[in-house]
Amino acid sequence: MSADGDAARRPAVACHDLTRFFGAVRALHGVTLSIAPGEIVCLVGDNGAGKSTLVKILSGALAPDAGQIEIDGRAYPGYAMREAQRLGIQTVHQHLALCNKLSAAENIVLGREPARLRLGPLEVLDRAKSRQIAVSSLEAVSASIPDIDIPVEKLSGGQRQAIAIARAVHAADRMVIFDEPTAALGIKQTAATLEAIRNVARTGLAALVVMHNLDDVYEIADRIVALRLGFVVADVARDRMSRAELAARMSGHD
Ligand SMILES: Nc1ncnc2c1ncn2[C@@H]1O[C@H](COP(=O)(O)OP(=O)(O)O)[C@@H](O)[C@H]1O
Ligand SMILES: [Mg+2]
Repeated sequence: MSADGDAARRPAVACHDLTRFFGAVRALHGVTLSIAPGEIVCLVGDNGAGKSTLVKILSGALAPDAGQIEIDGRAYPGYAMREAQRLGIQTVHQHLALCNKLSAAENIVLGREPARLRLGPLEVLDRAKSRQIAVSSLEAVSASIPDIDIPVEKLSGGQRQAIAIARAVHAADRMVIFDEPTAALGIKQTAATLEAIRNVARTGLAALVVMHNLDDVYEIADRIVALRLGFVVADVARDRMSRAELAARMSGHD
């Protein structure tokens, strides 16, 4: 196997034996998993299973008490959010973190605005370039926003979700984490969001998606990882486990 072949098989992100306590509660118990480039992994589990804790550790918002994250063959005993972002990992949060008064284009490039001119500490921002990046990022997730120049507060929930995803795609070059992306959406918006996630994966990014609705999970997942009380109780290709068995594993009634 060539070096290129090895690189191709290397996970985008892996974690080994992650453990995290909150006081006496063990929220994660030796969690090991890996996500390949272009793969959609859905993370499921009942309330309190440890999904948010795992997502926070992988996005750099929380440190594990034990275990490590592995990226490109390097092991990290946890990392800060800035480091996670530097490593190409972006998170689309459940409660959308858009700036309401800014436009879609401004939100998508926020914090990474292209500069037309730099004069010492002064920067002249390149608005045309920003709009171009916004349009191509929205295209990458197949989202259409009627007007990318009006404040996002004027847009629908589904459109705002699409902008948050486009922003993550623009900023990420390894993995996008979605925390319950469809929880607050209707049927049509959910379908659009699932399609956007598929498109994220098609660009070669790994996608880790926390999801409650098993219909959505079975529609979108390449692989399903289930947590129960901090343990991984399933890690299977979607077609290898029935919904009934998955539900039984999640609830401990198997
Ligand atoms: N900040 C915290 N302080 C105390 N306990 C916490 C905290 N965050 C999570 N927990 C506990 O850790 C366990 C896992 O929680 P969480 O990761 O939020 O699960 P999920 O997202 O799957 O519902 C639960 O028992 C929860 O009460
Ligand atoms: Mg949670």
